[in-house]
Amino acid sequence: MRRTYEDQVEALLGRMTTAEKFGQLQQLTWTGDTGPGGGQTALTEAAARAGLLGSVLNIHGAEHTNALQRMAVEESRLGIPLLFGLDVIHGFWTTFPIPLAQAASFDPAVAESDAEVSARETRTNGVHWTFSPMMDVTHEPRWGRIAESSGEDPYLNAVLAVARVRGYQGPADGSGLASKDRVAACAKHFVAYGGAEGGRDYNTVDVSEQRLRNLYLPPFKAALDAGVATVMAAFNTVSGVPAHANAHTMNRILKEEWGFDGFVVSDYTGVEELIAHGFAEDGPDAARLALNAGLDMEMVSTRLADHGEELLAAGRVEMSRLDDAVARILRLKFALGLFDRPYADESAAVTGPTDEAREAARTAGARSMVLLRNEDAVLPLSPAASRIAVVGPLADSADLHGTWAGPGGTRFPSVTVLDAVREAAAGTVVAPAGPGVAEAVAAVESAEVAVVVVGEEPALSGEAAVRSAIGLPDGQEELIAAVAATGRPFAVVLLNGRPLTIGGWLESAPGVLEAWHPGIEAGHAVADVLFGTVAPGGKLPVSFPRDVGQIPVYYNRESTGRPYRPAVPDEKYVSKYLDLEDGPLFPFGFGLGYTTFATDGPRLDREEVTVAELERGAAVEVSVDVENTGARTGDEVVQLYVHDVAASIAQPVRRLRGFARVTLEPGARTTVTFRLGAEDLGFWTNDPAGTFTVEPGRIDVYAGTSSAASAYRTLTVR
Ligand code: NOJ
Repeated sequence: MRRTYEDQVEALLGRMTTAEKFGQLQQLTWTGDTGPGGGQTALTEAAARAGLLGSVLNIHGAEHTNALQRMAVEESRLGIPLLFGLDVIHGFWTTFPIPLAQAASFDPAVAESDAEVSARETRTNGVHWTFSPMMDVTHEPRWGRIAESSGEDPYLNAVLAVARVRGYQGPADGSGLASKDRVAACAKHFVAYGGAEGGRDYNTVDVSEQRLRNLYLPPFKAALDAGVATVMAAFNTVSGVPAHANAHTMNRILKEEWGFDGFVVSDYTGVEELIAHGFAEDGPDAARLALNAGLDMEMVSTRLADHGEELLAAGRVEMSRLDDAVARILRLKFALGLFDRPYADESAAVTGPTDEAREAARTAGARSMVLLRNEDAVLPLSPAASRIAVVGPLADSADLHGTWAGPGGTRFPSVTVLDAVREAAAGTVVAPAGPGVAEAVAAVESAEVAVVVVGEEPALSGEAAVRSAIGLPDGQEELIAAVAATGRPFAVVLLNGRPLTIGGWLESAPGVLEAWHPGIEAGHAVADVLFGTVAPGGKLPVSFPRDVGQIPVYYNRESTGRPYRPAVPDEKYVSKYLDLEDGPLFPFGFGLGYTTFATDGPRLDREEVTVAELERGAAVEVSVDVENTGARTGDEVVQLYVHDVAASIAQPVRRLRGFARVTLEPGARTTVTFRLGAEDLGFWTNDPAGTFTVEPGRIDVYAGTSSAASAYRTLTVR
């Protein structure tokens, strides 16, 4: 964000009382689950009138925000406008696919279009700020919040985070923030939340400095470079110190090293929780620890506002730190134009999904799907098939929005798969006469081909929705077995918020399409891919385990001294399970299409580069030829990985450093070019002060169509 408002901020700070300053650091929830009485509505209104409130969450609708804003602007002493925030994670009215699905598109334009539509719908409904994008890299499919993330890779998370920040905010210099169709974004959760032990939400994270910097921090740095206005602290500890009071991550890295001049908001009651963490002794201690570590705004709990003045008087916090926090918040209010235009235009509110927004959500949904299996070309379905059965517990579900749907999630149903297949098919579409397996089997037996729609209810993923077993729930595997026993060709459509263990039935199903939770246009998007109107071209943003027992299983693992060698399967003293085949069921980056592609090994424009050249900004150009060798137009995602063969810190066996989704007609060929610079070839060390190093040595550069790509060339760094 540009520091163009310093004079106004200074002037205003000079007029504020200490209580008003602490008031700016307070965010309350207008509605919400805060125990008896629901939200903090009465408290919110009183604090707004008294000029003791900075921000409000969980409010939307221009008439509501304007009414509350009037209390702050017209009744409080200084008339400082409130900042309204809301979780608009993958849509306000128009629900796009869940973020994990969007990551599967390997297409930043998908995330950007979601963010742009969301920003318009959100801002015109009185909300200035979304608590998105979430960019928690995670290796934990049990963790329900994997649905909100972009999966297991830091590079992919970073690319999508940048696209979202651009879509929400506009240009990186913050110049778009005041416009009527933009909102401020929030990079969350800072940091390493995806590392929660056992995948249990809110759980401990113990992380080395190098892993913090190489795995968890890069998406945040990228979001900052894209101008993200705010950052949210994470619920977890980071190596023993809760993120909400972590001076190393907030003060040292975020603010000093990266020069972040936006503000850090706590998560919901995160400051209060410092007591339960066993880190703060009591409320005043929690407030002191959080503020001094770099936290700027407190969400829902009120420790800073309650105890700030006494802490200041006792010299336990400094006025300069308070002023700095207030300035950060005011700066955003100026950038959003709230001092000039505090009210939303009630007549200009977008009141529901427009046709254009629905179209964008439908495109996003279809581009996010991953074809996992397609034996005997069971897919695409022929539109001329005379009888198609559509069965399964989610076939007729109109709640395919996924976790964290916005206000539209309860107001606008998703298009069902059954309805959409009916629309798209030329022949008859049959649904079971009842909910049981027998009725489903009867429907399948009466048809030429079947679609079996299974997966997770949206409530099975998202915050506080952790599963210890991640197979299909509730007898769905039995349904698939019964359908398979009919001998009819069929495809399984998976609607879910996380990777599932599907190895038990996979081979019984001729076709499997991973459709995630596709949002409001779910059925249409699924039908587009089932009938081949849209070619499936998504890739897995996260590995699919064979079994929960092998979690964490992820492609970018570090080398061990005794790696499992597929060529020597009986070796005993190697890193493997006795009772499970090595590796994931499907690796990161995997996905099939309705056509076939061939990629040539990567070509490097040079075989050697020096550290000095790289440090001066030189890059190695890598070209990969890709050809559509099949009979249909289709999409392929060309992927580039590097492996530093020997380094002062053991390096991941592969690291994604580039990807490009291309569409090619049959027989067409194109060349994709990537550039590898210092940023791609080096890594962060364990130095807490932050050392990024590019070391001389051999780097293998892999290219292909998944993280299992085997074609490589060697680059020598001298
Ligand atoms: C808790 C969640 O962790 C966070 O992601 C969200 O933004 C806040 N609640 C506000 O709803």
